Amino acid sequence: MEMEADVLIVGTGIAGMYSALNLREDLKIVMITKSNVEECNTYLAQGGISTARNEDDYDIYIEDTLKAGTYKNDIEAVKVLVEESIENINKLVSLGVKFDMDGENFDYTREGAHRVNRIVHCSDKTGQKVFEVLLDNVKSKKNINIIENACLLDLITSDNKCCGGIVRIDNEIVQINSKITILASGGIGGLFKNSTNQRTLTGDGISIAIKNDVEVVHMDYIQFHPTALYEGNSKDKRFLITESLRGEGAYLLNNEGDRFVDELLPRDVVAKAILEEERRTNSEYVFLDITHKPKDFIINRFPLIYNECKKRGIDITKDKIPVTPAQHYFMGGIKVDTDSKTSMNNLFACGEVSCTGVHGSNRLASNSLLEGLVFSNRAAECINRSIDDIDCAKGKINIKMVQDCDKYNKHIIVEEIIKARGDMKNELVGC
Ligand code: SIN
Repeated sequence: MEMEADVLIVGTGIAGMYSALNLREDLKIVMITKSNVEECNTYLAQGGISTARNEDDYDIYIEDTLKAGTYKNDIEAVKVLVEESIENINKLVSLGVKFDMDGENFDYTREGAHRVNRIVHCSDKTGQKVFEVLLDNVKSKKNINIIENACLLDLITSDNKCCGGIVRIDNEIVQINSKITILASGGIGGLFKNSTNQRTLTGDGISIAIKNDVEVVHMDYIQFHPTALYEGNSKDKRFLITESLRGEGAYLLNNEGDRFVDELLPRDVVAKAILEEERRTNSEYVFLDITHKPKDFIINRFPLIYNECKKRGIDITKDKIPVTPAQHYFMGGIKVDTDSKTSMNNLFACGEVSCTGVHGSNRLASNSLLEGLVFSNRAAECINRSIDDIDCAKGKINIKMVQDCDKYNKHIIVEEIIKARGDMKNELVGC
């Protein structure tokens, strides 16, 4: 079966949705998602979205991002991220997102390695609330069609030009011909035994890029979040305990009841300190303690965490929360420029699947949703300007080759991760 689109978008997280909303309304847009539409990491994001508070904050915010990223960041991309943050947060508000307010101003919160409070949030359900607004807006557009249970198997290409994708929709193989393809298919956490990510996120976009000689970079830049809820050997995704709990004053304690690290250091430093403390005390977890804050504040500010922990027998207003690091984010990915263009013509990538270079080797907390917004918007603007000059070419495909290729795709990315991070082999599912 064949379908035609002006733009094919792979993924329904913040980068996919926001690029769709910023594309021209005269373009026929097909969005595909491997599972159901909510099954993206955006939905799980708790802490919030970083933003410059005003122009005076630009330099400090840029420096915080570079310092957390161990100065391996792309400075031009970081400047774009910071300088376009306010307009994109305002656009989310105009689309209908209701961030928590402190009078007339946003109720900015703080997370590790930010020198000031600059994170807008919707209690501890920021991702879910933003996602719901984006989805409502997308559904109201007649030119956007979302197809669920549609797994990208391969790109259709011709002379380093992308002409669409081969997709398995339910059990049927469908050729979607498009002038432009945007990969917004998310990260790699589903490949790890312990990850805060949706289990379905297995780096498909990156594998498919590698297979088609699209440039990828920094396969070794894998981030662990310091505080996922400790739940023994559960095979499910790890429940995140947002860094903003520490931003609002929670302490990290070892099993002797002592603090052992400055809780607001960058994520990689805190995660390492926790692992060392676990080793030293022969324990599989440490504790996060917010019991010294007023009960009403805890319940109103962190309703998701309060309820999820309660279901598991932990009352966070009275009990310390057992936590341990888990894989959380991939800073490497498909190399893109500041318009989200990849090394293949007519192929864009945005969100976690891409590497703009903004995060360096360690992402600053709450910079991921912002990256998804800023760079998917830039992709859309670039496409709006250039798409009329593109013909819908038909590339070559070999249907026999694609029948079983999701297993092969997984193999490609696992091999690449092991090549880049041999030390992670035991962390990967099935290795
Ligand atoms: C968190 O809320 O701790 C996660 C936010 C992020 O990954 O940036």
